[in-house]
Amino acid sequence: MAENISERLKNIDTVIFDMDGTLYDTESIYRDGWLSAGVPLELYLTFIGTSSTYIHETLTEHGFNPEQVVADKTAYTANELAKGIPLKDGAQTILVWLKERGFKTAIATSSSIATAERYLAESGMAEYFDRIVSGNRLERGKPHPDIFLMAAKELGSQPEKCMVIEDSFNGVRAGHAAGMFTVMIPDLIEPDEEIRGLADVVLTTLAAVPDLMDTDKAPADYEMLAQQVRSLAESEPHWLPVMANTAAALFEAMDNINWAGFYIADEKDGSLMLGPFQGKTACIRIARGKGVCGTALLKDEVLVVPDVHRFPGHIACDSASRSEIVLPVHFNGRPVAVLDIDSPVSARFTQRDREGLERIVRVLEESADLSGCLTVV
Ligand code: SME
Repeated sequence: MAENISERLKNIDTVIFDMDGTLYDTESIYRDGWLSAGVPLELYLTFIGTSSTYIHETLTEHGFNPEQVVADKTAYTANELAKGIPLKDGAQTILVWLKERGFKTAIATSSSIATAERYLAESGMAEYFDRIVSGNRLERGKPHPDIFLMAAKELGSQPEKCMVIEDSFNGVRAGHAAGMFTVMIPDLIEPDEEIRGLADVVLTTLAAVPDLMDTDKAPADYEMLAQQVRSLAESEPHWLPVMANTAAALFEAMDNINWAGFYIADEKDGSLMLGPFQGKTACIRIARGKGVCGTALLKDEVLVVPDVHRFPGHIACDSASRSEIVLPVHFNGRPVAVLDIDSPVSARFTQRDREGLERIVRVLEESADLSGCLTVV
C-alpha cells in the first residue's frame, strides 16, 4: 500500500456512508421505478446521487411532467420496498467491525431523513449509526462537498479524519472535494478514468473495507495454506486425514478463532454430522436448514455472519463465538460437507478471509478424494 494512503488511513476516526446503492441494494429498485414511469435509462443515470430539486428541473427540461413521473416512480418503488429493504453485500460486516472499534459513523444521503430512518429501522441497522445527514434541505447536493462537511461537523470530526464510502460518481466527486479519504464501491456503474482518479480506492464489496483499514494486521497466508492442503492430499487423498489436517492448519494459522472444522452431510435427510475439527467439543448433528451450517448447506452458499447473535437460529456450540464463516465443500458438483470457522471477535471474517478460504476449499475439492463423504454418515 502506498505510504501516504496507509498514513491517511491511520488517522481516520469517522466513516460516512452514502445510503442507496452503497449500504442498501435499492438503486436498482429506483432505476426500475424511473424506467416504469417512462424515464429513459440515460436520463435516469444522470439522477444518481443528485438532489430531488435537480431531478425535478431535469425532468421539466426534458418535457416530462415531474409530479406525474415522481408519483409513478414512487408507487412502483413503494411496492417493491414493502417486500423488505435489501442490504448490500458486506454491509453488516463493515458496520459491526466499525462499531466494535469505536469509529464514529454517519449516513449522508440525498434521500430524506424519514426514508433513512425507515431503512435503518426495517433492516435492524439503526444502532450502528451516530448520525443521519440528509442533503434534502441543503442548497447544493453532491457533487458539492457540503453534505459530507456537515456530517463531519455534526460528528465533531475533521475532513482529513473522515472516510467516505460511495457508489455514485457524484458521491465520489463530493467526497474528494470535501478532502476526505474516498472509497468507491461501484453499484450500477463502473468508474471511468475521472472517477478512478478522484477515488482513493475502488473496492468490490463493503466486506473489503476492514482489510483496507486494518493496516497493522498481518493476515493469514492463504496461498501457503492452500499449497499445504494440496500437498497433504497428494500424500494421502482420503478425505478424513485431509480434513483433519486442514482443520489443524487453519486453527494454527488464523488469529482470533476458537473453532475450525468440518461437518459432513447426510444424504438421506440433509442433516450434518460433526467431522474433524479443532476447538471445544461441538454439537454432533445439525438438522437440514438449521443454524449457520445447515443454512449454508441448504442454500449451497458461503455465509459470513459478522454477529452470530443476529443470525436467526444460530447454534452456539461455544458461547465465546461472536462471528462465523461457513463454506460448502463439493463432490461432483454437490455439497457434501461444510467448513465452519468461529471467532470470539465480531466481524472477524472479511473479504480477504472469504476469498482465501474459498481458495482452500477449491484445492480440497480438487485434490482430496471426497467420494467417501457420501457413505460415511
Ligand atoms: N454455529 C454453528 C454450529 C456449529 S459450531 O459453531 C461448531 C451453526 O450455527 O450452524
